Amino acid sequence: MAKKAKTIFVCQECGNESPTWMGQCICGAWNSMVEEKIVPADSKEDSRRRTTEAAKPTKLAEVGTRDYKRIDTGIDELNRVLGGGLVKGSLVLISGEPGIGKSTIIIQTAANIARSGQRVLYVSGEESDEQIKMRADRVCGQIPDNLFVLPETNLENVEIACDNIKPAFLIIDSIQTLYSDELDSAPGSVSQVRACGNKLMKIGKTGNIPIFIVAHVTKSGDLAGPKTVEHLVDCVLNFAGERDQELRILRSFKNRFGTTSEIGAFMMEEGGLAEVRDISGTFLENKTDGAEGSITAAIYEGSRPVMFEVQALVSAANVGFARRTAVGADNTRLSMLLAVLEKKAGLKLLNQDVYVNIVGGLKPEGTSIDLAVALAIYSSYKGKAADNKTLVIGEIGLTGDVRAVRFADKIIKEAARMGYERVIMPASNAKNLKDIPANCTVIGVKNLTEAIKMF
Ligand code: TYD
Ligand code: MG
Repeated sequence: MAKKAKTIFVCQECGNESPTWMGQCICGAWNSMVEEKIVPADSKEDSRRRTTEAAKPTKLAEVGTRDYKRIDTGIDELNRVLGGGLVKGSLVLISGEPGIGKSTIIIQTAANIARSGQRVLYVSGEESDEQIKMRADRVCGQIPDNLFVLPETNLENVEIACDNIKPAFLIIDSIQTLYSDELDSAPGSVSQVRACGNKLMKIGKTGNIPIFIVAHVTKSGDLAGPKTVEHLVDCVLNFAGERDQELRILRSFKNRFGTTSEIGAFMMEEGGLAEVRDISGTFLENKTDGAEGSITAAIYEGSRPVMFEVQALVSAANVGFARRTAVGADNTRLSMLLAVLEKKAGLKLLNQDVYVNIVGGLKPEGTSIDLAVALAIYSSYKGKAADNKTLVIGEIGLTGDVRAVRFADKIIKEAARMGYERVIMPASNAKNLKDIPANCTVIGVKNLTEAIKMF
């Protein structure tokens, strides 16, 4: 006999349950009530039988490991961010601002996988099949036979379509447009997104179908809906970039099948997204030689070094407090570096506005760009340009000491490849280097004062 579901509303802040929706919960939170369906539990006898049959723990030592079967997406940069391809049965959330290129990368992936002979189902709640076709004509070339589209927003219909087509790869564009019949709330609401996320997981895991789920997020990344499915999915990828620039960076924030430090770089072109193979070259393309406040820095992202330009501008503040603004770098870290520069290098920055910019839209994580940021500020303050064949890496401590960074030897190799002749780096890294490229000089520095002398 079908069980009757009951609707309740649960506060996301305190967990309080109520039979009706309330604008303000008793805990004081506003708009925190989310619709939920309660399905009565099985009879006691049922559940006892289930417990004895299914709940048999396995010895961890006896659990076999297996190689995850991965599907080649035909896009190396995407494969890399996924940890070596798309794992069968995995759920991947692709988030990004509207218009950044999520549908584009997805249709390109869909066409590549379909071309390899596997069935792909592209469900779009945002565009009609003609619109999808028009984009595919532009970016995919010859459209493969195995690529199916379904303009649909109802999840139960998507389930039926999956049963009919049995796709090897499913795409949902986007989760905010999808709704399940089981809930009365509107598509995009927290309860719908959560319910649809759960159902999609079931479809993916039972059918061993990898699923790409598109989620729109705002610039601050704080749209409540998609956050609620982040814990469900296996990978969370973020697609970012400035809309007026062509460069797009794909980064993974969560990956159950690989590292989260990999990035993928793309250019949005006339014919869709093109992979960027020489990432350092692209970032340094427009660097002006001999400009004050400009320093080349590098980080090690996942499995490769990436070089880019750090710019700083120091100028006299007009009134009141001096401004400190960082684009692409961490503001708190900038404040710390300014304090160290004042105290250890004697720079008078109290009445100076300081702006720092990581050119190209990259947001490097970690602290290995500290020394480059500090030297860029010093260069602008002193009006002294850096030598354009010098690369700077190193973390700065509160005492002004320059600390080791990871993978310095790989960064040097990349510097040599890019034609850089000098690398200023932490002394602790310099003494451990195994092979230094012939055309590269390594300058090891122990603290900020030494680095400034070498500058
Ligand atoms: P789209 O993939 O639709 O973004 P999203 O799904 O993230 O909202 O891409 C949107 C923008 O990309 C669009 O404004 C135009 C640009 N674009 C190109 O420059 N070249 C192309 O080949 C395509 C398909 C889009
Ligand atoms: Mg789209």
